[in-house]
Amino acid sequence: MRRTDLIEAEVNSWVADRLVDALPDGATIVDVGSGSGGMSAAFATALSVRGGGRIVLVDAVPELQEAARSAVVEAVGDKVELVTVLADAADPELASLVPAADLIWASRVMHHLPDERAGVEALTRMLAPGGWLALAEGGLTTRCLPWDVGVGEPGLQDRLVTAQLAWYAAMRGGIEGAVRMPYGWNRLLSELGLSEVNSFSYLLDIPAPAPQPVRESVADWLGWMAHAGEGRVSAADAEALVRLCDPTGPDYVGARDDVFLLSATTVHLGRRTVAA
Ligand SMILES: C[S@@+](CC[C@H](N)C(=O)[O-])C[C@H]1O[C@@H](n2cnc3c(N)ncnc32)[C@H](O)[C@@H]1O
Repeated sequence: MRRTDLIEAEVNSWVADRLVDALPDGATIVDVGSGSGGMSAAFATALSVRGGGRIVLVDAVPELQEAARSAVVEAVGDKVELVTVLADAADPELASLVPAADLIWASRVMHHLPDERAGVEALTRMLAPGGWLALAEGGLTTRCLPWDVGVGEPGLQDRLVTAQLAWYAAMRGGIEGAVRMPYGWNRLLSELGLSEVNSFSYLLDIPAPAPQPVRESVADWLGWMAHAGEGRVSAADAEALVRLCDPTGPDYVGARDDVFLLSATTVHLGRRTVAA
């Protein structure tokens, strides 16, 4: 995750600046499911250049929360107030554990909750009047390989994307008590009473030849797919994954100068109405 934070640092900083621009001075930003803290650090930096503010890290995993805390401290020292809250984002009482937020950022986390609607509803209760909720969910699946990698049959990337989507559906279906949300995030935000509902998407575009950490992140992803794709890819593709992930073999993907990263992320926004 730290490698991903480094790779995404530039685009994270662009997203953070864009969102922080809309906030009042000294704003409170709550990062729900903050992971290893790449976006938390970008938000902290954006706040610090505007004179400070407060970052609240919410995560259920202590090790990740500690990583995110270090990332923020490394980025801004004590120029921004830092609060950590170890909690389940599905806790309906979350609002009583965190200060009212001018911005809640929840990236790639709400889809882990059994009831995404209930989870987002709980987040809306954490908003200060006029506060923004930003959900980074969906977009376009990452592409990183040429069509023919010369290992196994051509078209491996497309088959892996299909397997990844099947894994995602099984992951959602396997969550105990999972509730379907058969509509888009924009409709959810509107139905929960937020105003100014809109979205924007941004690209992560690192062309080939990609720097070594990017190549290694591609190897990480293929290694993860070797696991997530079990039973979802053919034996030939499984064998290709083993060869591409072997750092000691001649086919190691991390040694290729033709891998790249191209993906799109969508940010869904809504705002709590300012009380009249
Ligand atoms: C896929 S990572 C996303 C990290 C980061 N937000 C990003 O976009 O890179 C999901 C994060 O959400 C956290 N998480 C998952 N389910 C959670 C829950 N029910 N309550 C709190 N945190 C949760 C995980 O510990 C992890 O830090």
